[in-house]
Amino acid sequence: MIDESKLADRVQELGEELSRDYLGRTPILIGILKGSAIFLADLIRAMSIDCEIDFISISSYGNRTTSSGSVQLLKDLDRDVFGRDVIVIEDIVDSGRSLSYIRKNLAARGPASISIVALLDKKDRRETQIFVDYVGFDIPDAFVVGYGLDYAERYRGLPHVAVLSDEDLIDSAEGNGGASPG
Ligand code: IMP
Ligand code: MG
Repeated sequence: MIDESKLADRVQELGEELSRDYLGRTPILIGILKGSAIFLADLIRAMSIDCEIDFISISSYGNRTTSSGSVQLLKDLDRDVFGRDVIVIEDIVDSGRSLSYIRKNLAARGPASISIVALLDKKDRRETQIFVDYVGFDIPDAFVVGYGLDYAERYRGLPHVAVLSDEDLIDSAEGNGGASPG
C-alpha cells in the first residue's frame, strides 16, 4: 500500500513540521507500544529539536483484526509528564478508542499540552471522536501490516505498509505459519 520511499518522505515532512511547531521546547514523544516503535525511531531522527522518549502500552487486539472494545493500561510511562509538552506517537487510528483512552489518561496528569501524531488513519472506521493533530497517510478500511504494524505479532519488520490478504488471515488462524509476507 505504501512503499519505503513514500514512508521516508512523509516521516521526514512530519519531523520537520513538528520541529517548527515545537521550536524552543523539549517535548516528550510518547510511543504507544509496540506498533509505533519503528515510526518513532524514524520520526525522532527527522526532527531537528531535542526530544525525550517514553513508552506506554495498552491492551491490543491480540490475534483478532477488530477491536474488543475495552482498553486497559499494560505498561505505564516511566516519567512524570506534569507541565510537559506531550506528543503521542501512534501507528494507526481505527475506531479511535485507544487514542481517546490515552488522551484522557494523559490529560489527567496535567501536561502543558498534548498532541497526537498517527502514521496511518482509517477515518471511515471511527467510532469515537478523537482529534489527530498530525496524520501521515489517510488509508481506506483494510487491515495493514509492516513498518511496526503486526498481525498476531508478525510482519512488523516489513519496510513498507502492506494490506493483509484474506489468505494470510486464514493461514495464520490455522497456525501453519501463514503465507510469505510481502
Ligand atoms: P483503535 O483503538 O480501534 O483506534 O485501534 C488502534 C489500534 O489497533 C492500533 O494502535 C493498532 O495497534 C491496532 N490496529 C488497528 N488497525 C490495524 C491494522 O490495520 N493493522 C494493524 N494494527 C491495527
Ligand atoms: Mg497500536
